[in-house]
Amino acid sequence: MEHILKSIKQLKQEKSATILAHYYTTPQIQDAADYIGDSLALAQEAVKLQNDLIVMCGVHFMGETVKILAPHKKVLLPDMNASCSLAESCEYGKFKQFVDEHRGYTVISYVNTSAAVKSLTDICCTSSNALPIVKSLPRNEKILFAPDRNLGDYIKSQTGRDDMVVWDGACHVHEQFSVEKIVELKRQFPNAKVLAHPECKKPVLILADEVGSTAALLKYSQASSSKEFIVATEPGIIHQMKRNSPQKIFIPVPPVDSTCGCNDCEFMKLITPEKLYLSLKNECPEVLVEEGLRVKAEKSIVRMLEMSKKLGL
Ligand code: 13P
Ligand code: SF4
Repeated sequence: MEHILKSIKQLKQEKSATILAHYYTTPQIQDAADYIGDSLALAQEAVKLQNDLIVMCGVHFMGETVKILAPHKKVLLPDMNASCSLAESCEYGKFKQFVDEHRGYTVISYVNTSAAVKSLTDICCTSSNALPIVKSLPRNEKILFAPDRNLGDYIKSQTGRDDMVVWDGACHVHEQFSVEKIVELKRQFPNAKVLAHPECKKPVLILADEVGSTAALLKYSQASSSKEFIVATEPGIIHQMKRNSPQKIFIPVPPVDSTCGCNDCEFMKLITPEKLYLSLKNECPEVLVEEGLRVKAEKSIVRMLEMSKKLGL
C-alpha cells in the first residue's frame, strides 16, 4: 500500500494533477488528496483550479459538477460505478414531468443530481447552503425542492414554508440511522453531543445537538468544548474530526441492519488507492458532459455559487 501511495504522489507531480476528495472517502484517499471538502466546497474549488488534470475522489455527480464548471479541464473519476442513491432517486423523465406539473415554481435541486436534472433546475444547493438559500427567497415565491425528502422536510421545519413541494428521494446511507441506536449510544455516552446530517430522518434530527453538512459538523466538533460526539453521518468524516481534535472521541452510529456494524457509502468507498493510481496513470475514466447539456446545467450551479458568495458561505 505504501508503494501505491508513493506512486500516486509521484504521478500527481509529474502530471501536474490536482486530487479532490470528499470527506466520505477512505482515510488513505483523503490523505492523498490536495483538497478535501464537502459538496459545496468541492464545487467552489472547481472554479479556482489551476491544473488541467483533475481527479475527483468522490461520486459521479461531483465529477460532473467539476466538468460543468471547468469544461476545458480533464476530469477523472477513478470508478465510474461511484453513483449516489439520491441522484438515482431522481430520474430525468419523471422529474421533468414533476417540474412541468408545477409551472411557476422555482426549482431548487440538491447538487446530488445528474447534469440532466440540473438542466431543469433554477438554483442548485448543497446541505451547506440549502437552508440559507431558501430563507433568502421571498416568502411568496413558490418552491419545488428536490431530491432529498429529509433535507426538504428539515428546511420546511426551519422556515415554516409548509407549501414547499418536495420530491420523494432519499440517501440510503443517511436513512439507515435510527433513534434506537442513538438512544443506546446516549446511554453509554451520556455527555456526548449528537451530530447529524440533514439527510437523516426527522426523528434523528430532533435528537441531534447539531444538524449540518459534513463541513458544518466538522467545524462544530472542533469548536465545541464537549469531548465526545455521536456521529450520524457517513463515518469517513471521522478521519478529519480525529485529525482536527485528536483528544476527542467520535462514535459512529451503526445502521439498523448491518453485518459490518458501519454505515459506509459503498459508492464513496469504491474509490480505492489502486483505482486512483490507475486513473492517474492512464488518465481515465474521464467524466464527459455533452456541451448543450453542460451549458444548461451550468446556470443552476453558477447561481448557487453566486448566492453562496452573497450569503457569506
Ligand atoms: P455534504 O457534502 O453537503 O455534506 O453532503 C453529504 C453527502 O451525502 C454527499 O454525497
Ligand atoms: Fe449519495 Fe448518500 Fe453516498 Fe452521499 S452518502 S454519495 S448522498 S448515497
